[in-house]
Amino acid sequence: MPTPDTSHISPIWGRAVPGTLIAERGEGAYLYTTDGQQLLDFTCGIGVTNTGHSHPRVVRAIQEQAAKLIHGQANIVYHDPLIRLTHELSQIVPEKLSSFFFSNSGAEILEASVKLAKHATKRPNIIVFNGSFHGRTHLTMAMTTSKTIYRVGYQPLPAGIFVTPYPYAYKYGWDEATTVDYCLAELKLLFKAQTAPDETAAIVIESVLGEGGYVPPPARFMHELRELCDHYGILLIADEVQSGFGRTGKWFGFEHTGIVPDMICMAKGLASGMPLSGLAASPDVMSKWTPGSHGGTYGGNAVACAAAVATIQTIREEKLLENSTRMGEVLMIGLRRLQEEYPEIGDVRGVGLMVATEFSTEKREPWTERAKAATKASLDEGLMLLTCGSYDNIIRWIPPLIVNEAQVKDALGMFEKALKKN
Ligand SMILES: Cc1ncc(COP(=O)(O)O)c(C=O)c1O
Repeated sequence: MPTPDTSHISPIWGRAVPGTLIAERGEGAYLYTTDGQQLLDFTCGIGVTNTGHSHPRVVRAIQEQAAKLIHGQANIVYHDPLIRLTHELSQIVPEKLSSFFFSNSGAEILEASVKLAKHATKRPNIIVFNGSFHGRTHLTMAMTTSKTIYRVGYQPLPAGIFVTPYPYAYKYGWDEATTVDYCLAELKLLFKAQTAPDETAAIVIESVLGEGGYVPPPARFMHELRELCDHYGILLIADEVQSGFGRTGKWFGFEHTGIVPDMICMAKGLASGMPLSGLAASPDVMSKWTPGSHGGTYGGNAVACAAAVATIQTIREEKLLENSTRMGEVLMIGLRRLQEEYPEIGDVRGVGLMVATEFSTEKREPWTERAKAATKASLDEGLMLLTCGSYDNIIRWIPPLIVNEAQVKDALGMFEKALKKN
């Protein structure tokens, strides 16, 4: 078959996976390319297809809804999928966060959360964490410090964003307690030196640091963060765009630490690949947002909402949270075994099916080439993986939540072969 002509596609979409893959179809944990390859997809379209590719229940919901109503604009009409989605979501978020707004992408919902925080608190500033990724709009670029490539050539970015260290113990080479103490001290210093608490509207944190390296935060850190926010009347916003919808073995990543945020930003896994994002807040906070001061044409799209309802029901009924936890354990055990043989795997960490292998040299410096080579060699074996981290020296493992033990072991086998080749 002749290679299709991709020359009219903007090169701005840099290639995250080596070569030119043209996907023909997806089914469960596999992607099939037009040149006949079957690939085990442990990228999940960057953590989106949590129910697997084209889950029949999600497909049916999309088809049925498209035949009834594709678009019913949210300022003009409400529709059944939108209403049903708010009811489904209210069953899985903390009880007090029972009011929802919808948009199309992760970045848009982060923007929305910041706009709401500003209205609700009448304060101007936002605190974010070093290594975070919150999106690519101008505001969310200003909130993003995982890689300079996201900012180069676009500065200056919106002001009022302050960055504080994230408790990434492996990066610092410290134990967890020392790392948490340091990060809390730096945050408190930020309040004294850069943004006064009564000028700080919100602290935004990824419940598991994503693009910045797949690093779950210690529970003590999250509890102290919650206490500081309560003390100063600052809103705590959980960015669950990548960590939500069962990715970590719970509906939301923050559940592992026992805190309840004031807002939850969701996208990616919410609708199994349909463009939809959501914001949860308490009715009290939501009521402080002046009607008409935010919105959008497509937010709460009927087909996307129907897909989200089917996604939530599928995760619940197929017990995918439990599977995410169990398969995450199988994966981590397998990767830790490989770590013993391949010392370039400096760290294996994660929660549920949000798992990282960080590649480091003997001197514990980031080993980007090794991680990239292992990713490329894995693809040659039939396993799709992505890297992340400021140095791109971390391989992230994001299989769909429907993955089974044989597939996880298959992936580990392919990865081992790839490591051997390097
Ligand atoms: C934690 C997090 N927040 C926000 C975003 C931005 O989402 P989108 O690419 O849909 O705008 C991403 C995307 O990777 C993300 O991982």
